[in-house]
Amino acid sequence: MAMAGTQVPVIAIDGPSASGKGTVAAAVAQHLGWHYLDSGALYRIVGLAAGDRGLDLDNDAEISRITLNLNIKFDDDRVLLDGLDVGQRIRGEAAGAAASRVGALPGVRHALLALQQGFRRPPGLVADGRDMGSVVFPDAVLKIYLTASAEERAERRYKQLIAKGTGASMAALLRGIRERDFRDIHRAAAPLLKCPDAVEIDSTAMPVEAVVARVLQLFQRR
Ligand code: C5P
Repeated sequence: MAMAGTQVPVIAIDGPSASGKGTVAAAVAQHLGWHYLDSGALYRIVGLAAGDRGLDLDNDAEISRITLNLNIKFDDDRVLLDGLDVGQRIRGEAAGAAASRVGALPGVRHALLALQQGFRRPPGLVADGRDMGSVVFPDAVLKIYLTASAEERAERRYKQLIAKGTGASMAALLRGIRERDFRDIHRAAAPLLKCPDAVEIDSTAMPVEAVVARVLQLFQRR
């Protein structure tokens, strides 16, 4: 018999921006042979689509309306919006800032809820974001809250951008990360928070492999 949606196990990995959630979640999913949901990519796509349509990024009614009609596909490593590969564009700092603004809108969060829950398919799902454990998959078998100091996160982003050949300023990155943290933590709709039942991992001084190993070990103990 097929597993009903809610019987499919979920590992939820939440935390602030640039904490390494995406890398860790994708590696855990690959190790287990599970599906992976990068929920931040959905908010980034909405931010991008709203900007492209010239909408005010605080206009909840209009942005939730377009969110319900967006044609989004994840195809291996590609992210398609209306058939166009937007993978590169959504990774930029501007899309991140736009995502954080549209992520504060309750209607947009609601519009994305069913879409995110639809990624829960056998044999399992690893989902990363801000509210995976608190709102989207409250019955997750394992909830992780992954943090790192703001300085360490800015430095990781800096190294990524330099490796890609993009110029970057440490001071601007640190300021951007702090602003995004502030907005994500203080918003009324699904603020970034550590669930009481989440295990906190501070990755400031940990290599990514060690974080992945720790998550897998916590999962095997469940
Ligand atoms: O994780 P990532 O940095 O790609 O997310 C971009 C922004 O999207 C975050 O700063 C946050 O405001 C928003 N977001 C959210 N809820 C999620 C994932 C992302 O509000 N589950």
